[in-house]
Amino acid sequence: MKIDFSQKDLLFLAPLAGYTDLPFRQVVKKFGVDITISEMISSNAFVYHSSKTLRMLEKAPNEDPFIVQISGNDEEIIKKAVLLLNDMDGIDGIDLNCGCPVPKVVNHGSGSALLKDLPKMARLIETIKKHSNKRYLSVKSRLGFEDKYPKEIARIAQQSGADWIALHGRTRADKYKPDRIDYNSIADAKQAVSIPVIANGDITTLKKYKEVKELTGADAVMIGRGAVGNPWIFYQIKNNLEEVKKDKIKEIVIEHFNSMLKVYGDKGIGIFRKHLHTYSKNFPQASSFRDRVNRTDDKDVVIEYIEEFFS
Ligand SMILES: Cc1cc2nc3c(=O)[nH]c(=O)nc-3n(C[C@H](O)[C@H](O)[C@H](O)COP(=O)(O)O)c2cc1C
Repeated sequence: MKIDFSQKDLLFLAPLAGYTDLPFRQVVKKFGVDITISEMISSNAFVYHSSKTLRMLEKAPNEDPFIVQISGNDEEIIKKAVLLLNDMDGIDGIDLNCGCPVPKVVNHGSGSALLKDLPKMARLIETIKKHSNKRYLSVKSRLGFEDKYPKEIARIAQQSGADWIALHGRTRADKYKPDRIDYNSIADAKQAVSIPVIANGDITTLKKYKEVKELTGADAVMIGRGAVGNPWIFYQIKNNLEEVKKDKIKEIVIEHFNSMLKVYGDKGIGIFRKHLHTYSKNFPQASSFRDRVNRTDDKDVVIEYIEEFFS
């Protein structure tokens, strides 16, 4: 599906390895997200052990458009990964990870390490552009490695052929420190390029969403951690609601549970408990709800408890 960047309140779900699995993506997509992205796939692992990584490329039927994110630092391997992806249907775009701060990834020269070598980052984006048969090519980045150079990063992405850039408003050195989030630098990047700029980082409420849109002038926002335990944030933004009604929360929780069961079978009941624990936070009687949920392995009983609790 074509992405319309002039659309009001265009929303991306940020990739969060270990959180944004298929059931989660399916649910948020149904309730407000426009674009979902796979968890990061190492181009190395994909090229040399593709069967292990194939599961990470599974998507829900409603994930349209669906973007696959790859990491890497070697043009030949990136090219091979792109050629493999070319043979796969249902993928609308390839995103290059230029922001991952994790030492294992950075020490390999991938993720945010690319921000230390912008000419290489440019070559990798150009390689994807040259070989990909997908509609879209995008970049997800931080503001810099140690220092900030968001304008240069955005220009490199644009010149190398990216259709948009998503910017997390921190450098690699900032890690996830709350006081380091910098939306002004995202605004600078937006001024420097004509491709859409997607603002990312610490958007946890409708109010914050509006502030970030205003401050950055970004074409869209991307939300990650703000959706964990709070997947209705997208519904809230799309519908400009100060508060989401309990009935809607219940509908979303049940949808998530059913989607988990579909993907994980009965194992989904156990996995879903941790989600129920977060979903019930801030509601009265949460601890007795958790106790009851912990003591059953019957999916119909779990649904019954959810129906009752969120009424
Ligand atoms: C647990 C976790 C896993 C993440 N996995 C990825 C990933 O696979 N690819 C990626 O580009 N960013 C990843 N990120 C970064 C997020 O996509 C996002 O840029 C960052 O968390 C800031 O946005 P937020 O405040 O909305 O979460 C991850 C972040 C966290 C906390």
